[in-house]
Amino acid sequence: MIIAIDGPAGAGKGTLAKRLAQTLGYAYLDTGLLYRAVGAKLLAAGIQDPEPAEATAIAQTLTANDLANPDALRGEHNGQAASKAAAIPGVRAALFAFQTQFATHPPNDAAGAILDGRDIGTVICPDADLKLFVTASAEARAGRRFQELQQTGDKRIYGDILKDVEDRDRRDSERETAPLRSADDAIAIDTTEMDAAAVYAVALQLVERLRKRHSDD
Ligand code: DC
Repeated sequence: MIIAIDGPAGAGKGTLAKRLAQTLGYAYLDTGLLYRAVGAKLLAAGIQDPEPAEATAIAQTLTANDLANPDALRGEHNGQAASKAAAIPGVRAALFAFQTQFATHPPNDAAGAILDGRDIGTVICPDADLKLFVTASAEARAGRRFQELQQTGDKRIYGDILKDVEDRDRRDSERETAPLRSADDAIAIDTTEMDAAAVYAVALQLVERLRKRHSDD
């Protein structure tokens, strides 16, 4: 069973994917971390606007070690750097095989894999059993981020966060290679007015319905 979850930054797809994976005993891959690792390495080398060749070379030499500390890869500066690197076709090509391998041969012989990202349902796993496209308005996503940051004492203003969200949406949706878009056969979940528990309940029901259909076949 392969579940593909796509959507823009901050729509709640990571929270949903993690919880579903835990309940179902499936392996989970946050594909954004791969692009973030490339972005973080570029930033560490002092490169803000990478040339395709240098970003591709970094993506080609990525190792598990580069993903060992996911918390260090979060944060908006790494997110923006990831978004720039992700627009480079060579970077996407370098990360393709790892993602498809994870989906088709999940670690620990798990009975299924859940991948979240931007192009999982369209490019990485076009034959996924279930495709979800999780969205929310830019204002709702920026508002959630604002509240998270306030709880950690971060004083960034809402307007700056909204601008980052909109910049990233634009870059991720307008790039030529594997842009953020819903697969034609994806089920959309708009989380603007939903909390995480409600989103989870809707998604779990879809998975259970599918599993029942598979076992009836
Ligand atoms: O999901 P995230 O915010 O951690 O992703 C960071 C950036 O990586 C995102 O702005 C675009 C890019 N990305 C992508 O292009 N394709 C994916 N499958 C996952 C992330």
